[in-house]
Amino acid sequence: MQELRIEFMKISRNSNSFTESERALFKKALDVCENAYAPYSNFRVGATLLLENKLFISGSNQENASFPCGICAERTALFAARSNYPNLKIIKIAITTKSRDFNNTNPVAPCGICRQVLLEYEIKQKSDIEVYLFNKEKVIKFNKAKDLLPFYFTEERLKRK
Ligand code: THU
Repeated sequence: MQELRIEFMKISRNSNSFTESERALFKKALDVCENAYAPYSNFRVGATLLLENKLFISGSNQENASFPCGICAERTALFAARSNYPNLKIIKIAITTKSRDFNNTNPVAPCGICRQVLLEYEIKQKSDIEVYLFNKEKVIKFNKAKDLLPFYFTEERLKRK
């Protein structure tokens, strides 16, 4: 048997270890949940990125009557950042949900597709992206997107022999 080590840290949401910029990141992710278009699931997700020039880029989930058209908050934010600032590195991403109807004991974790997208940008920019999953009480911090997706698929596999 082989073992895989994934590192993450659980931190209390009101810990004073967070920087002002991290607090701003959390607030923006929470606020942007209000802009989710989620009439079908009612599950509102917000994601905010911090770019290397200190700019924040936010996204929320956007659903559609044709269900598969919908997109998660994380990809909305990532694609907006990559479309408008293709040369700026992503330093951090914070993800949260604001949905009273759902059990929010644990912070929401990104789906597999969003992990794949996040990881490709991390690999391309050659520097780690910190990931913060949070709710009212706690924050789960990963030092890099790679920790969220073991055995990932990359462009390496698309290179012909
Ligand atoms: N969703 C996100 O936006 N991010 C996640 O991390 C998980 C799920 C959205 C997709 C859909 O609009 C709704 O939440 C329910 O799945």
